[in-house]
Amino acid sequence: MKVLITGGTGYIGSHTVVEFQQAGYEVIIVDNLENSQPDVVDHIEKISGIRPHFEIADLRDKQALISVFEMYPDIKHVVHFAAYKAVGESVQHPLKYYENNIGGTINLLEMLQYHHINNFVFSSSCTVYGEVNNLPVTEETPSVKAMSPYGNTKKICEELLMDQCNASNLRVVSLRYFNPVGAHDSALIGELPVGVPNNLAPFITQTAIGKRLSLTVHGNDYPTPDGTCIRDYIHVVDLAKAHVKAIQYLQNKNHTQNYSVFNIGTGKGNSVLEVIHAFEKVSGVKLNYKIGSRREGDVVQIYASCDKATNILGWKAERSLENCMESAWKWEKHLNDVMIR
Ligand code: UD1
Repeated sequence: MKVLITGGTGYIGSHTVVEFQQAGYEVIIVDNLENSQPDVVDHIEKISGIRPHFEIADLRDKQALISVFEMYPDIKHVVHFAAYKAVGESVQHPLKYYENNIGGTINLLEMLQYHHINNFVFSSSCTVYGEVNNLPVTEETPSVKAMSPYGNTKKICEELLMDQCNASNLRVVSLRYFNPVGAHDSALIGELPVGVPNNLAPFITQTAIGKRLSLTVHGNDYPTPDGTCIRDYIHVVDLAKAHVKAIQYLQNKNHTQNYSVFNIGTGKGNSVLEVIHAFEKVSGVKLNYKIGSRREGDVVQIYASCDKATNILGWKAERSLENCMESAWKWEKHLNDVMIR
């Protein structure tokens, strides 16, 4: 029951490590710590009572990967998060994104092939759908030309995984995440954005705590009920649990396809203003926000149909938007306390 989790000290990765441990798996984390902190491993141990194995390695470094797989010869499953994820940066530095996100995935797949490891879960994104006409979006919706090199790396990786499934015994589940938010209830792990956050949730909590002066709502003239964009905000713990379900699905060998994709969201869309109001309600903090102009590249609205994940994986999001905001706020306050101390 050994599972290797690349990017396991990152935001989604760390929550996923905890869920696998709680489901009885032995976890090996591989992370290069470029975008995360080593003490995340201590915090995982505090939550689960079990220290995961932890190897610092970069997926671009084949020799390092070879060593990891030699060190743990009985890995049965791999969950792959390690990748760059900043949309804007990917536009500035496309080669960096293609090299790391695609190159790293290829190196990892070579290891799987060599060691006959067949179960693989890939961290994909709803960004592959672009702007859609029919909502909620199902997995049958064709993917479109990616809006950024980051998005394109997700699309290309899905395609290369499909090809590798056709050519080998590899079995893959790609999970297309909608908008992950929130933090673990313990407030011991959560999102640690580097620099000024681009995403809405950390910007809200950083503004509320006083780290940012004000939040700008990127446009209120969209064709939506309150004029602001609509997304499907999914609690990171719910999202983490989907990975365990995906591995269990691959393990029980009843699946008919070697490659499958699942949307992982709540099935409900919320506007930017609804998110702000949910935050204000649970935190009791009046948020300093203003309406600004539209942000380039934003789709108007997208939310998931998660019926496929419910019917096939037996997974369903359980947490509310309020719970997402509550846990994100608890985490932000915890970070603030740690900084003051
Ligand atoms: C973004 C990425 C997506 C990635 C996801 C990861 C883009 C175009 N897409 O999604 O590929 O998978 O993050 O979480 O960057 N907003 C504000 N003010 C802010 C920040 C955001 O109004 O300061 C609004 C945005 O305009 C958007 C919504 O909040 O309508 C959500 O934005 P964000 O959290 O950045 O996520 P996405 O853009 O949906």
